[in-house]
Amino acid sequence: MTRRFVLAVLLVAAPVAAQPQPVPAPELPRVRVIATGGTIAGVQDAPGTLGGYRAGTRTVGEIVQSVPELTRFAQIETEQFLNVASPEITPAHWVSLSKRVNELLKRPDLEGIVVTHGTDRLEETAFFLYLTVKSDKPVVVVGAQRPATGISPDGPINLLSAVRTAASPKARGMGVMVVMDDRIISARENRKLYPRTGGFGTGEMGMLGVVAGRGPEFFFRPARRHGVDTEFDITAIDTLPTVELVFSYPGGEGPRLGPDTQGVVAVTTSGFAPGERDAFTEIRRRGIVLVQAFPTGEHVAGGPPPGPGAGPRDPQGGPPAGAGQGRPGQNLAPTVSVQHLLPQKARILLMLALTKTRDPREIQRFFGEY
Ligand code: SIN
Repeated sequence: MTRRFVLAVLLVAAPVAAQPQPVPAPELPRVRVIATGGTIAGVQDAPGTLGGYRAGTRTVGEIVQSVPELTRFAQIETEQFLNVASPEITPAHWVSLSKRVNELLKRPDLEGIVVTHGTDRLEETAFFLYLTVKSDKPVVVVGAQRPATGISPDGPINLLSAVRTAASPKARGMGVMVVMDDRIISARENRKLYPRTGGFGTGEMGMLGVVAGRGPEFFFRPARRHGVDTEFDITAIDTLPTVELVFSYPGGEGPRLGPDTQGVVAVTTSGFAPGERDAFTEIRRRGIVLVQAFPTGEHVAGGPPPGPGAGPRDPQGGPPAGAGQGRPGQNLAPTVSVQHLLPQKARILLMLALTKTRDPREIQRFFGEY
């Protein structure tokens, strides 16, 4: 055995010294990372390939440990709330997650919260939190479009940006935000535009800011009610009212509603097919609240409501519905119009509105203020 060979054997056999984990400085802000699953927790059968993966597999501990840089900016706490692909998220999950976040944010030592989430239903969970978290402290929802074991995963940098935002005093009062691809987006405006990195945007609305080299920088504030100004209190609520979301299409005949349905969001650029008109007339006659939304989240045709309590436009194609009136003699509830909100988010606002009232004029007010 040559000396060189012995040395090589010794080197190979020598135990690898455990890498010391960086210890966070105690004065750093405390941020809790609550994990729900998604691609940010996705693991492939063949790591490092372009192959398929299972979302909601890595634990929150594994996700956080894969980004040691986090400890430079915050003291991290972790919590595994769920570990699922986000299409499995239900309204009951929204309610219990929001209760948990509200409870945690009462802690004076906690600066902010990051929620990791699958991107497919991230818009909805983030908006529900935006409407129901009664705190000035930052809550940041974050996901990834490439699995944690994939090539160039986006999860680690997104998580780092999310934690830096949640730890920042500049983020106070900004409401619930989505931080992905260096963008800070209000949960009201964020939308998944495409399923690749960079795919979260705001449509025609602006971002709140960016996460740059020096950390989060804000340029705008959300103008709509949120945070400590929200009227929605879910403390005593476990289930949300049933609200259906339906698209108008040629030859459509309207939705078949179950007995529990309290509201319908009808999505159309303007107008309805004859069969749908009959169905919506019947729906309004039953006192079910009908909300009209534009497919891409623009204002519905006719613009903002003309005054307090007035629905702007009758979905039958008639004139504005007016305060509490449909067409003369029909005794129909007025139609509520969406003001620049994606239909799936309009559904969430309607669900929460229905926990407080079934009066369409009051519900129109919610759509005007949130
Ligand atoms: C999911 O929504 O859970 C899967 C897709 C993703 O996170 O990008």
